[in-house]
This record gives sequence, C-alpha cells and structure tokens, in this order.
Amino acid sequence: MFSAQGPSLRELAVQALSSVERGYDLLAPKFDHTPFRTPQSILDATAGALSDLGPFGTGLDVCCGTGAGLAVLASVCRGSVTGVDFSAGMLTQARAAHPAAAYVRADARALPFAEGFDLAVSFGALGHFLPAERPALFDGIHRALRPGGLFALALGTPPPLTSISHWATVGFDLAMRVRNAVWRPPFVMYYRVSPLPAVRADLTAAGFTVSSVRLPVDGRTHDGSAEFELLLARKAPASA
Ligand SMILES: C[S@@+](CC[C@H](N)C(=O)[O-])C[C@H]1O[C@@H](n2cnc3c(N)ncnc32)[C@H](O)[C@@H]1O
Repeated sequence: MFSAQGPSLRELAVQALSSVERGYDLLAPKFDHTPFRTPQSILDATAGALSDLGPFGTGLDVCCGTGAGLAVLASVCRGSVTGVDFSAGMLTQARAAHPAAAYVRADARALPFAEGFDLAVSFGALGHFLPAERPALFDGIHRALRPGGLFALALGTPPPLTSISHWATVGFDLAMRVRNAVWRPPFVMYYRVSPLPAVRADLTAAGFTVSSVRLPVDGRTHDGSAEFELLLARKAPASA
C-alpha cells in the first residue's frame, strides 16, 4: 500500500486493531513510506517561519515519531534537541535517522519536563488526542517550556464540505468510532476533532498567548488539507 516499501493493507489492518502505541511500534520500520509522515514541504515552511523568530536555545519535538520535526529543530536551535514519543519502535527509527538528538519515551498527556526548552514543536499527532485530552497535552508543553518559550504547531485547514476529501475524513472518523465502540484496545485517531478555534482556545486556557502565520505550502496532505497555519503559542516571559 502507498508504495513498494510501504506497509501492506493487511499490516495496516493489524496496526489499526492494536493500541496507538503498539500500532506505531508495528508501523515504525515502514512509517516513512506512508503519507502519515509530515511532508517535507510543511517541515521546510515551518523551519522558514521559525527562523524569522529565532535562533532558539534547546528544542523539543512532541510525538516525534521517526523524527520529522527534529531536523526543523536542528535548523533553528543552537542548543540540544529532544524527541519525545511513547512508541519505542518509532523512537528506534528516529534515533537511527537523527543520532545527535536526545530521546525520551513518555506519554505526551503526562510530559515529564519542567522549564527545560526554549522551543517545542509538534507535527501530525493532534488527531491522536481526544478534545478532553488536549488540556493535559498543552499543560505539559507549557510546563516544559522556559518562560518566554514558544510552542509551534502546524495545522491544516479542513477541505471544503463539497470535496471528496471532506467526506473521506467524515467516513474515516465514523469507522473509527464504530471500531472503538466494539474493539479493545481503542485506537484514537480522528481527523475532525481538532478544529483550529478549539485548539487555539485550549492553548489559551493552558496559559499561552496565541498568534498564527500562514505556511506557504503547495499540494495536499492525506487528509485533504491544502492550506496550513502555524500556530505560535508563546509562554509568558518571567516577570521582572
Ligand atoms: C502520525 S505520527 C507523527 C510522527 C511525526 N511527528 C511526523 O510528523 O511524521 C504520530 C506520532 O504520535 C505518537 N503518539 C500518539 N499518541 C501519543 C501519546 N499519547 N504520547 C506520546 N506519543 C504519542 C505516535 O507514537 C506517533 O509516533
């Protein structure tokens, strides 16, 4: 499926019947040959936008997977960069691709960091978090940043209601809800649970001041998005 090096349909089905963590462990060796890895054009556009705001000190890639965001961090951070993910299989792939980075295996809903980073990024993972889980995720990122630190989150704007992609993502989410109603462990991955206004509101509630820039990206991602925003969530600087 996707390409000769990508996972077969059977492999994808087995992964989808596992937990998120186990599913990514199984997918890890072939993940970079799927459309689920964040496209290089989005990574490059993010690095360009962040380079205007940097340079930064230390960097953290939340839900780093095989390391798509680590090269972005390396390009704008003068200090060390760290990837965090709960899939040991994905971390093994990331370590092989980016040996200079540090890695922590942890659940992003309970990040084990305190004021250690100047910049945090996250790509392609928000659909794995239910709306009720976003406060814990964003609180942990807020806590992980130093005063004045920045969290950059790239989000696609949904395809129009009249497009095939819109209905494909509606159908996917419906199938996931049925799957999760009848099968354990759940596999949380929904395309339509992270609308921009709700994500902005949750970032603000976590204590960030949020702005955004449009990312100059051509083409569509696998969810049909053709336009991309980089949310820039700033932690308040230390008071004098
Ligand atoms: C679609 S992949 C994205 C990987 C990479 N950021 C990219 O853009 O290519 C989602 C990643 O999120 C990780 N993930 C999902 N839920 C997580 C959680 N609760 N804690 C830590 N990692 C999680 C998965 O293990 C997987 O590596």
